[in-house]
Amino acid sequence: MIRRSTFLFAALALVFLSACGESPTQADDRSVAALYWRSCASCHSTGRGGAPVAFESEAWSARKSHDDLWFERVTTGYRGMPAKGMCLDCTDEEIQQLIEYITSDRAQP
Ligand code: HEC
Repeated sequence: MIRRSTFLFAALALVFLSACGESPTQADDRSVAALYWRSCASCHSTGRGGAPVAFESEAWSARKSHDDLWFERVTTGYRGMPAKGMCLDCTDEEIQQLIEYITSDRAQP
């Protein structure tokens, strides 16, 4: 009986583990694109709540005059944007990379 439940537990654990492995953006992927999709995209891919749309230079040109404030505003949160743009485990460096990424007009990944 004990052996059987141990087996069941192991089988269940395997199911959960493999389910994690199938997620489109892996939790341990720290590339700027993966971090963008995990946090910033929920608002900035569509402009939800008045968020400037990522990769659209017109959306950012009006804000360029205060680009020295961007980092602080993303870090502490600003109006409709929660602190760290919802990437709570992002380092300062990653936040900076994400800002450069979404405000550039390169093609969307
Ligand atoms: C829950 C929605 C939401 C998420 C998630 C979010 N933002 Fe924002 N963001 C906004 C909104 C709304 C604004 C516009 C605020 C305003 O000017 O009223 C904004 C503005 C900005 C600005 C311009 C600030 C300024 O001073 O003009 C930057 C830069 C920015 N976001 C970067 C990011 C980055 C990088 C991430 C991901 C780490 C992120 N945002 C995640 C909603 C969001």
